This record gives sequence, C-alpha cells and structure tokens, in this order.
Amino acid sequence: MTPQEYLTKNQERFLNELLDWLKIPSISADSAFADDVHKAAAFVADKLKSAGADNVSIEQTAGYPIVYGEKIIDPSKPTVLVYGHYDVQPSVPDELWNTPAFEPTIRDGNIYARGACDDKGQAYMHVKAFECMMETNSLDCNVKFMLEGEEEVGSPNLGIYVKDNVEKLAADVVLVSDTAMIANDIPSIDTGLRGLSYVEVEVTGPNIDLHSGTYGGAVANPINVLCDMISSLHDENRHITIPGFYDDVLEVGPEERAEMAKTPFDLDAYKKELDVDDVMGEAGFSTLERTGIRPTLDVNGIWGGYIGEGAKTVLPSKAYAKISMRLVPNQTSDKISDMFKKHFESIAPKSVKVNVTLHHGGEAAVTPIDSKAYEAASRAMDTTFGKKPVPTRGGGSIPIVAMFEEVLGLKTILMGFGLDTDAIHSPNEKFGIFNFYRGIETIPYFYKYYAE
Ligand code: BES
Ligand code: MN
Ligand code: MN
Repeated sequence: MTPQEYLTKNQERFLNELLDWLKIPSISADSAFADDVHKAAAFVADKLKSAGADNVSIEQTAGYPIVYGEKIIDPSKPTVLVYGHYDVQPSVPDELWNTPAFEPTIRDGNIYARGACDDKGQAYMHVKAFECMMETNSLDCNVKFMLEGEEEVGSPNLGIYVKDNVEKLAADVVLVSDTAMIANDIPSIDTGLRGLSYVEVEVTGPNIDLHSGTYGGAVANPINVLCDMISSLHDENRHITIPGFYDDVLEVGPEERAEMAKTPFDLDAYKKELDVDDVMGEAGFSTLERTGIRPTLDVNGIWGGYIGEGAKTVLPSKAYAKISMRLVPNQTSDKISDMFKKHFESIAPKSVKVNVTLHHGGEAAVTPIDSKAYEAASRAMDTTFGKKPVPTRGGGSIPIVAMFEEVLGLKTILMGFGLDTDAIHSPNEKFGIFNFYRGIETIPYFYKYYAE
C-alpha cells in the first residue's frame, strides 16, 4: 500500500482526530488557558507516539513545553526536522464567529475553528503523513518533530531550547507548514518571511482625566497628540519617516522584481474579497511587493478615553497604541525597535510625556530555490497538484526560521497548504478539508524525493 492509499482508507479518522485537537483552546497569550495549552501538548505527543515516533517527550521550558519525537531509520539517510506550533491566537471577538471558535464545525468543505489553519491543522498533516509512511513502510528519511506552544507569543523560550539541543536537533533541513498558497489550483511555496518589531506606546497628558469643556483646547489631549504622531510616521508616498529606517533594507533587484511580477495575482479579486474600493501602500511597489519585500509599519490597536455607551465629555489623561513593523532581510529587529523608540520620543511635543516599551520581535528569512530540499518540495507539490508550485514571498513572520539558520545552520522549506483567505488570527478561521488531505498526500512525496 502507498501512503496515499493509507490516507484514503483513514481520512475520516484523521479528520476527527484533528477536530478533537481543535476543541482544546490552547491560547498561549492568555494564562487563563494554561491548562488547555498543556492538554494540547499532551494530545499531540500521544498521537506522535501512536503514529510510531520514538523518544516522544514533552520537554519543559520556562514557558509552555516543546513536544519532541523522532524516527531514525538509518543514520546515513537525510534527516528532516519538522517544526509546527500547537498554540493558537485568542478567539476574540467571539461574537463575530458564526460558530464557536473551539467547537470545530464543518461547512462547505471547510473546518471552522481557531487553529484550523494556524497551525494545528497544518501541523497535524505532518503527524498523519508520518503515520501513513510508517504504516506502509515507506519512510525514506529520518524525521524529528519539534512542536512548540509559544509561537503566537513570540517563541520566548524556543531559541533557548534550540541552543541547548543543537546535537539532538541535528538535521539536513527544516520542514514547516505554517504559511499559505496562492490558491487551491495555484500551489506555491514561500521563499521568504518578514521579520518583526513590536512596540507599545503610552502618551500621557494631564495627570488626571479632565472636563473637556473646562480644559479642552488649552491642555494637550494625548489622543489627539498620539494620532498626530502616528500619522507623521508615514509621508505622502507611504514611506516610513523614521530616520534610518530603510538604511539596512536589502533592495530587491530588477530581475527578481520582474520574476515576482509574474506571480499570479488578481488585484480586483483581492479588493473584492476584502470589500475595499482601493488598496493602499508604499508608492512605487505592487501589492505583492508591499507585503513580500518591503518593510511596513501598522497600528494594531489604539485606545484611551471614554469608549462606553453614550457620550461622556472627557479630556483623557492617557492614550495608547500597539505598533508593529514588518521587516525585510538585513534589517535587525532590535535596531529598528530602538530607532522607533528614539524617534517617537523625539517627535513628542513638550505638552505630553511618552513611554515606549518594546515587545517581542524576530528577524526576516529567505530560503533558496536552488536547493535539493526546495526541489523535493516543488516536485512533491507538482505530483499532487499537477502543477509546479510558484515561489512567493510571505508577508507574515515565523521568527524561529531565522534562528534555525543561525543556530543549527539549517535552511527551512515553507511548504504551507493554507490560503490567505483562511482568516488566521481572525473570527471564522478555517482550513479546507481539501487542503488538509492534500497536505497529508503531498508530504510523503517530499520525503521520498528528498531521500533520492
Ligand atoms: N503562521 C503565522 C505566520 C504566517 C502567516 C506566515 C501568514 C506567512 C503567512 C504565525 O503563526 C504568526 O502568526 N506569526 C506572527 C508572529 C509571531 C511573532 C507572533 C505574525 O506573523 O504576526
Ligand atoms: Mn502559525
Ligand atoms: Mn499565527
């Protein structure tokens, strides 16, 4: 029997197992769910074991554990390190979900649940593909699994774990399914990820909330000032105005940009999907370039003052914002965060005080398309989709990918099976059942071709 035939025989069970995993609200950002995060780790450790992995262990860290498991068939064969994450983003705002985030529901061929695509559904494809290969005696590579529970909070302990376990994690390549393809009939492989700097700003005006009639117009309103400061961070061309921000950016040459321009992309469909009449971004770059090869700055949240029912006249004492910057190769997260802090403090008027705190970050990564591993991934997708995948640059961040290269000297293959429209981090996150099965079908071919 082939792994693919084994999949066909067992597909219903595979799906039901995933649904059980999705029922566990493993939200790493909210300590109220700590027990569930541990439960999700135990769940997948158990499944790895029953699929045939050896030395399965739930490795403790200062935060949530790392689930490890391996199958060494022959030390002379190549070793694949599979990385994924079992933690998920918070489900809020819950009222916008058509069905509850942790009651996975199947509608129109999709699994709706938090984590369906990011990343439980995609990580589980690897566990099941492994089972398919084990049960059909067709595993051609050694494999090591490393599944973490803190990806969505910036992997604060994974770097330490990797540094402490360099020998244990020794491999030839890292394989990750935690990204998207262009469409179900246009397979693609991400060849890059952006880095990230994340900061929080606090602007303080008067020491207490004031009557906005008695004091309004005479004392700085921190919300007004924060808005001015934020809008000054972009110029009329949507360039970021922080001095030095672009200094280290690795500009992409005309040849590569010409290649990128061939990537299938329908701007009208994109606008329609998002219900926007126009897109907006840095002048001189296409939409795919704006998310793939250019750094950006976005406010992720902003608050302060009165937001309750009705109208309360108040001149608030404080205003806050959370701001992310997506970075490209050669920019350094720490350097950019410091640059932001200095600049933001320098543009504050004397009438307010500004406090900038730095959150987690990570570096960008690019992966070559002329490697044996890329070739194997490309052939694997070609085999199951009947089409060679298009190399693309992803806009999101998986900071550990840069660390795999730095600490383990390993390149990563980002063979994702999600879609940009899967609404990861949003209400009604979904993952196509087609995508789940196609992933399980494709992964064994990767091992097969990589071992050749
Ligand atoms: N799976 C995503 C990253 C991703 C999303 C890559 C879409 C490519 C396309 C990952 O779980 C994630 O959400 N990463 C965070 C960064 C992290 C440090 C919190 C992100 O990109 O915001
Ligand atoms: Mn993810
Ligand atoms: Mn995510």
